[in-house]
Amino acid sequence: MKTAIYPGSFDPITLGHLNIIKRAAVCFDRLIVCVLVNSEKVNRGLFTPEERTELIRKVVAKLPNVEVDCSATLLAEYARQKKACTLVKGLRAVSDYENELQMALINRKLNPRLETMFLPSSAKYTYVSSSVVKEMARYGADLSDFVPREIIEDIRQKIESGRDR
Ligand code: PNS
Repeated sequence: MKTAIYPGSFDPITLGHLNIIKRAAVCFDRLIVCVLVNSEKVNRGLFTPEERTELIRKVVAKLPNVEVDCSATLLAEYARQKKACTLVKGLRAVSDYENELQMALINRKLNPRLETMFLPSSAKYTYVSSSVVKEMARYGADLSDFVPREIIEDIRQKIESGRDR
């Protein structure tokens, strides 16, 4: 059984992420979408890792070979535990590539059996990112072209609850 992992921060999952998940799911027997810690973004989260995981579960509920998980370990170690041979990453622009290439090389150094495969983002989602979604949500903008509709209300409520603090 060929298992792949689609790792990321997913704070929150966007339509761009969902597009990569659907395209990767047809290439592998089992795809694990895993929420991991990006140390550069750790203090800038809107949702907790557990909340992000639940939002992804809601969105991929109808995709039979897609699982959702959350981990605080190194990605290369997580892949070893799950017997996964491939990491899937989406590339939106050339500017994503430098950082992604470095991560791919580090992950293969840590786990020589682990390959990273890059899927080009669909043109219509190249401008979509979780950061843009959070920024737009703070201004009350319509999110329906950016995130799956199942989670729009969760984002709105999260932003509102943050305003009370
Ligand atoms: O969506 P992102 O923020 O680009 O995802 C980056 C992520 C979370 C996949 C990356 O930071 C990661 O793999 N974090 C887990 C720790 C790790 O293995 N780091 C890479 C080797 S230093």
